[in-house]
Amino acid sequence: MSATETLRKDHQEIKRVEKIVIKCYQSLYDGKDVPLSDIEKITFLISEFLDSIHYSREEDSYFPCVAAYDSLKEEIRALLIEHEFSRNIARMLSTNLSAWKNGEDKREPVARFLKTYSIYLQDHLSKEEEFFTKAEEQILSKEEEDEMYQQFQSVIAIVEKLSDMVKLIDYLEDQNWYKY
Ligand SMILES: [Fe+2]
Ligand SMILES: [Fe+2]
Repeated sequence: MSATETLRKDHQEIKRVEKIVIKCYQSLYDGKDVPLSDIEKITFLISEFLDSIHYSREEDSYFPCVAAYDSLKEEIRALLIEHEFSRNIARMLSTNLSAWKNGEDKREPVARFLKTYSIYLQDHLSKEEEFFTKAEEQILSKEEEDEMYQQFQSVIAIVEKLSDMVKLIDYLEDQNWYKY
């Protein structure tokens, strides 16, 4: 495994989250019930898996390593702006979800921010995968790929947290509102 492969593997799990997000907003728009506790689990995945784990790997290790070659700087800048955009959507989603839990009817904004988040994900992941291919083929050395990979694996707390995140994705995929 290399650093790039690790990030691609994260993306495979994130695509499962994307499908859950899509199913969730569609169900909400259709007037079906989705337990608020499950929507909370989705927001938890967004903040803990996407933001804390995956974006950190990109922002703190992978992007700086590529940028050190003075290459793909515009691409990196655009990807970082998109991360910020997604954090704003996630914040709006959480705020509205809290209000909903406190009794206000926030079905529509929650559905809308979930939808916006899924559109962001689709666009961002595909752009980033093109970026990974360029970085892998043209920029990063085999040693850097290995070193970053080792670095990702060495943070045991993160590796364990990631496996909890995958369990949470399994759980959500197993819920009736998702399956039917
Ligand atoms: Fe990203
Ligand atoms: Fe990514």
